[in-house]
Amino acid sequence: MKKLFGKKIKIAVFISGTGSNLKKLIYFSKNKKSKFMVDLVISNKRHAPGLIYAKKNKINYKIYDFKKQISDEIKILNLVKKRKIKLICLAGFMKILTEKFIKKFDGKIINIHPSLLPKYKGLNTHFKVLNSNDKYSGCTVHYVNSKLDSGKVIIQKKVKILKSDTPKTLQKRILLEEHKLYSKALNIIID
Ligand code: GRF
Repeated sequence: MKKLFGKKIKIAVFISGTGSNLKKLIYFSKNKKSKFMVDLVISNKRHAPGLIYAKKNKINYKIYDFKKQISDEIKILNLVKKRKIKLICLAGFMKILTEKFIKKFDGKIINIHPSLLPKYKGLNTHFKVLNSNDKYSGCTVHYVNSKLDSGKVIIQKKVKILKSDTPKTLQKRILLEEHKLYSKALNIIID
């Protein structure tokens, strides 16, 4: 994906909740050397706490509740096309995009997941990890395809599991790594 000379690539971030990854993406996008700018935030929850970061930074945001997923996806496709968005970053977005949406979007879609994929796809990741004998967990940024948490891996970061870990403590440590990993992944895939 080529960065236009002197211009940053426009990205959209899709959220459902806290939005701490969105916050960090906005933070890193402001660095002169970053290759992207957050142009749009989409949430499927009207009261997603993460929307505060869009508001604070005067970034356009839209809410689609996905109750009529097909028609919401068409609206989103039109919007991202109009805004010339080249990349969609899912960050804690709790809806599964349809295959049609993925195929029709003229750009790349990526996601961040709090495990070392292909291990522990889906929900309750940290709980599942702690029920295994794994020594490490971590996080993954990957391309999105029509199967949940299954697209090609872009980058991963390992995090050591401690004997004292609970799902909450592990989640906290991994989230800190996610915050750095997402921007790193973007800088890798945008030339
Ligand atoms: C992150 O752990 C992400 O990997 C997962 O959902 C969480 C979202 O956190 N998909 P936040 O909303 O970015 O704070």
